[in-house]
Amino acid sequence: MQKLASLGGNKVVSGDRTVKVQPWPPRNEETLELLKEVYLSGKWSFNSEAEQAFEKDFAEYHGAKYGIFMANGTTTLECALTAVGVKPGDEVIVPALTWMATAVAANYVGAIPVFVDVEPTTLCMDPVKLEAAITPKTKAIIPVHVYGSMADLEKILQIADAKGIPVIEDCAHMHGGFWNGRGVGSWGKVGSFSFQQSKTMSSGEGGICITNDPEMADKLYRLKHIGYSRGLAQGQAQKAPEGMVCHNYRATAFQAVILHQQLKNLPGLIKTYAENAAYLTEKIKDIPGVRIQAPGRLANPQAYYSFHLIFDGGEFKDIPRWLISKTCYDEGFDIGNGTHGPVYKHNLFNLNKEKGEYRIAEGSCKVCEEMCNHTLGIFHQPLLYRENMDIISDILHKVADNMDGLKELAKDWK
Ligand SMILES: Cc1ncc(COP(=O)(O)O)c(C=O)c1O
Repeated sequence: MQKLASLGGNKVVSGDRTVKVQPWPPRNEETLELLKEVYLSGKWSFNSEAEQAFEKDFAEYHGAKYGIFMANGTTTLECALTAVGVKPGDEVIVPALTWMATAVAANYVGAIPVFVDVEPTTLCMDPVKLEAAITPKTKAIIPVHVYGSMADLEKILQIADAKGIPVIEDCAHMHGGFWNGRGVGSWGKVGSFSFQQSKTMSSGEGGICITNDPEMADKLYRLKHIGYSRGLAQGQAQKAPEGMVCHNYRATAFQAVILHQQLKNLPGLIKTYAENAAYLTEKIKDIPGVRIQAPGRLANPQAYYSFHLIFDGGEFKDIPRWLISKTCYDEGFDIGNGTHGPVYKHNLFNLNKEKGEYRIAEGSCKVCEEMCNHTLGIFHQPLLYRENMDIISDILHKVADNMDGLKELAKDWK
């Protein structure tokens, strides 16, 4: 048995063996040329040709008619909530496991986020817990397609439709993912995506709402464009939007150009993620105590923001996850993209339950809390290289074979 690098043994990643990482976000000369054209055109702001072309193609790719490009993937959620009619004091159901933006968007429109637990398999919103959390005050549901899985849209939409509650899909992790033959984001009333620096499509910052509803598309456009419909400039006569406080949440033509170029490569990217994820899954499936976040039930293809591993079985259950992460890091690979949740514990969320700023659904979110103690993720960039999958597999096998060494390290772990 090979001694762990953390205990003075040789690293798995050494000599000729190196981890390959694609520089992110991707850059190339062709995009640079197109950016130059936009620069010289001077048309940098809203509703540029570049923006319209990107919105159309991105929406179409995901099975939607309309795309509304915005400043980021938090403003998209905020606008989506307003567009579907959420008002101050209403309740918005979100999963406990997500990035805080999903819940904070509800706060931004004066609503109360209600946290429901996640499934232990997909780590996405549990439809059974969702149903139990609905009250007459529930005015929107935001399932999140998190990391490398998808929320069960079929079950969630069935529950929501029966009660007439709009669903907003948070697809910040799921560019290019398809559920049951159609793109994510096109199933709910609105789909929301983020193009922040780390995402699988990125323009540094940015976001988009997609929808099949023309009225919704107009509302979303007006919400991001200080009240004016598409094609109208500031100051042009138009009746004020009713009941909506609108913003300047516009993004630039430069971002649209970058993203439009990336969209061309999206199918190839998704294919590589899926092939390498399947390869890695096969290689590590027999390691005792380690599970893989289950892909969405009707996902094909499943997209990946990250590939999440759950160390909650056998002897791994008692090893702190950050020690597992550190041990893998010492072997030469960073499996340290942890989970975000539970969101209600996030210090930046800064909630005050006593003031009624949020509600945890009946039965609490024990699955989420438990999963967050045992989950580590591999970011999407290394997932693009088959050689990395062999390295990860070798490291995980080595770590699992050295349980006594891990337990030794755990004694001193703070
Ligand atoms: C699940 C989820 N929703 C929403 C967002 C918000 O996106 P942005 O950072 O573009 O505001 C993020 C960003 O990381 C996210 O992970």
